[in-house]
Order: sequence, then C-alpha cells, then structure tokens
Amino acid sequence: MLRDGLQNEDRVLSTERKIELVERLAASGLRRIEVSAFVSPRAVPQLADADAVFQGMVRRPGVIYAALVPNLRGMERAVAARADEANLVMSASESHNRANLRMSREASLQAIREAAALAGAAGMRVAASLSCSFGCPFEGEVPGAEILTWCRRLQDDAGIPSISLCDTSGMAYPALVKEVVGSVQDACRGITLALHFHNTRGLGLANVFAGLESGVIRFDGALAGIGGCPYAPGATGNICTADLVHALEVSGFPTGVDLDALIITGKALENFLGHATPGQVMKAGRRLSGPIAPHHAPAG
Ligand code: COA
Ligand code: ZN
Repeated sequence: MLRDGLQNEDRVLSTERKIELVERLAASGLRRIEVSAFVSPRAVPQLADADAVFQGMVRRPGVIYAALVPNLRGMERAVAARADEANLVMSASESHNRANLRMSREASLQAIREAAALAGAAGMRVAASLSCSFGCPFEGEVPGAEILTWCRRLQDDAGIPSISLCDTSGMAYPALVKEVVGSVQDACRGITLALHFHNTRGLGLANVFAGLESGVIRFDGALAGIGGCPYAPGATGNICTADLVHALEVSGFPTGVDLDALIITGKALENFLGHATPGQVMKAGRRLSGPIAPHHAPAG
C-alpha cells in the first residue's frame, strides 16, 4: 500500500519518487501494490498525479497494480491508466462515508455498481474495501448486521468477488476480527476476504494472526507504516509492510518477499519524507541478523 501511506503525508512526493517506490516494491517480490487513488484531487492532493504514476512506471509481469476508486469518474481514469485492479471503496458507517466520500452509503453502492460495470466491460479486475468494518471514529461500534448487509450487497448487487475489511479507525482486536471474519464468511459464500489493519492502538499484527486463524491469507501493509485516514481522527498508518513480512516469515508463513530489499525501500521513503517512520524491523533488523545499514539517497 503506497496509497494509504502517502495520502496522509504533508510532504508531497514527486511523481518520479512515487514511480521509483512502486518499482522497488515490485522488485522486492510484492504481488499486489495499491499504487495510488483515482479520487478527487481536491480531496487528496497528495495523489493528484495518479494518472502520471501509472503511465510512467515500468510494470513487472505477475504484479497486480491496483488503485483506489470511489466513483465512475475514478473508474474512467483507472481504465485510461490501465490499472490492473480497481479497489472500490465505501464505508460500513454512514457518517464516515459522508465525511470521506461526501455521499450516502446507498449512493456509494450505486457508484460502485456503475464503476464495476465499466471495469467489467474493460476487462479490469475489481475488489472492494469496506472502511470502518471494526468500528467508526464518529459512531463508535458498527453493528455486525451492518457489516453483513454491506458485504452481501457488494457481493450480490455489485458482483464484487473480493472484499477487504478495513479497520480504518484502528478499533479492531483479535476476538472481534474472528467474529467479523467468521460471520462474513458464513453470510457471503464464495467471497475472497482481505484484511486491512491500521496500527493505531498497537494491535495490527495481533489482528493479522487472528485473521490467519480464521483462514484469511491477504493482508495490507503500508511501506514503513506511514499514513492514516484523513477522516479517522488520530488514526495512524497500516502495519509496516516489513514488520508484517517479518512476522509472517518467522511464524512459518513464506511470503515470497525480499525483506532486506523492503527494509531498504522503507528507509529510502524515510529519506524522501524527511522524518522517521513507525516501522520497527526497519530499525532493529530481522531477529537474527541485526540492523541493515541506512540508505543514503540524494536529498530532495
Ligand atoms: N477523480 C477526479 N476528479 C473527480 C473525481 C475523481 N474520481 N470524482 C469527482 N471529481 C471531480 C468532479 O469532476 C468535480 O470537478 P469540478 O468541480 O471541476 O467539476 C468535482 O470533483 C466534484 O465532483 P463531485 O462528484 O461533486 O464530488 P464530491 O466533491 O462530492 O466528492 C469524491 C466525492 C468521492 C470524489 C471525493 O469525496 C473523494 O475523492 N473522496 C476520496 C477521499 C479519500 O481518498 N479518502 C481516503 C481513502 S479511503
Ligand atoms: Zn486504511
């Protein structure tokens, strides 16, 4: 996830820097990269160059280059940019949907249906992200019945094959993860689930392992752990991708990702942004080999 990280940074990286990061992430062995977002440039100026990033990057065969898409206009841009996958976003919470996407959940679902239809015609893969699946920064608890309703409607009404349950506000905890994942698996037969955790309250990796125990094998991370939703007050970034890869590898789940390369790319991002990041394995190194030398990139 480059997208979730960069959308919340004060310093806007140049298009060239973003392209470099995407290419390095792909070279480290990641197989799905959320490159950017085709959202309103007024809503997220940090990602206003999404079209140029897609156009300029060199693509590796086998890597899925995805983008966040909130509406039909975004899908038109995603098709023009030849994104591999559109990640259609809505929130399980009415208040968060209105704050983040400036429309009702019902209007978002309609937008997702239209966008998915266009993607289908263009031969593009679609997935959905359901924000606030474990709680809402404005409404608090989001009832399980609401999660099920919107997952079912995404699957049945919009034909979405894969849903990412997003802990936008960092309110998930392992028992809740198992409860929500289990109920969605029961209610939406055949759905592919992914989990997107923010480490806001330090429970990100614990939640990943709860997800694994429930049979989920797709998890989002953010390079160096940067980011957070601008409409989830206090929210911090996703789990740092290197911490996620390290935790999975030491626990016997091979990821196919070159952890050292990922750490070096995370350090390059720190350099580009000009501040430290939450990544932990980036500081300490993997458990038996110690720290990796800092990355010396040209300033800028
Ligand atoms: N890409 C680029 N421009 C877009 C766009 C898109 N996907 N969707 C709408 N716009 C433009 C419209 O063309 C219009 O431009 P104009 O004023 O020059 O005519 C303007 O934005 C307003 O369009 P409207 O449909 O009224 O959008 P809105 O202001 O109600 O905003 C969203 C709705 C969904 C586009 C906006 O809230 C958004 O992009 N949110 C994403 C927030 C986000 O990424 N959050 C973090 C990730 S979860
Ligand atoms: Zn997020």
